[in-house]
Amino acid sequence: MIDIMKRRNLFAFLDCAYQGFASGSVEEDSRVVKLFAERMNQVMIALTFAKNMGLYGERIGALSVVCRSAQEADNVLTQLKRIIRPIYSHPPNWGARLVTLLLNDHHLKTEWFNDVKNMQMRISDMRSQLVRELNRLSNGKYSWDFILQQKGMYCFTGFTEQQSIQLRQEFAVYIATDGRINIAAINDQNIKQIANAIHSVKTNY
Ligand SMILES: Cc1ncc(COP(=O)(O)O)c(C=O)c1O
Repeated sequence: MIDIMKRRNLFAFLDCAYQGFASGSVEEDSRVVKLFAERMNQVMIALTFAKNMGLYGERIGALSVVCRSAQEADNVLTQLKRIIRPIYSHPPNWGARLVTLLLNDHHLKTEWFNDVKNMQMRISDMRSQLVRELNRLSNGKYSWDFILQQKGMYCFTGFTEQQSIQLRQEFAVYIATDGRINIAAINDQNIKQIANAIHSVKTNY
């Protein structure tokens, strides 16, 4: 992808919202970002800690810009300040302080790495359980194994907008209208209910 982008002179903007949830390692999931930063002359990287640190609502993240020169970096900073000033001017302090504390304390940082790993394993386990349950209900009629090829916090069901709305209206299972499910919302208590609802919509609509 980097080669193609370079060849076509495209600008890279990376949106990193779930670092650690793909492989279970915060370091490993940053590999692509680092590769882009190394190989492209200009890159913008948006990072949020909302999910991987559970800091929703604290508006905590970072925008990093790789520039070709110190002068270009100065220019970019001036433009960013101009954009930021009328929108929010100063970011909230408290989330940023928590992240600073955590990343600068070896013990807390190790604990966080483990927490992210555990979260990724739980999500991955829920993904497998959901597929197993859906395949059991389908009884050979459909295969849901394609969901196992995906990774991260979401799964794409292939549901149409109509099917997603049906799931919501008839079964109170709320998924995005593009058919995307947040796997982190599935647990041992609701998995059967969710699988039954998905199976029912798949079969009837
Ligand atoms: C891919 C992606 N990028 C960015 C965001 C925005 O994250 P935040 O609200 O923490 O800035 C989200 C949030 O859902 C996301 O899914």
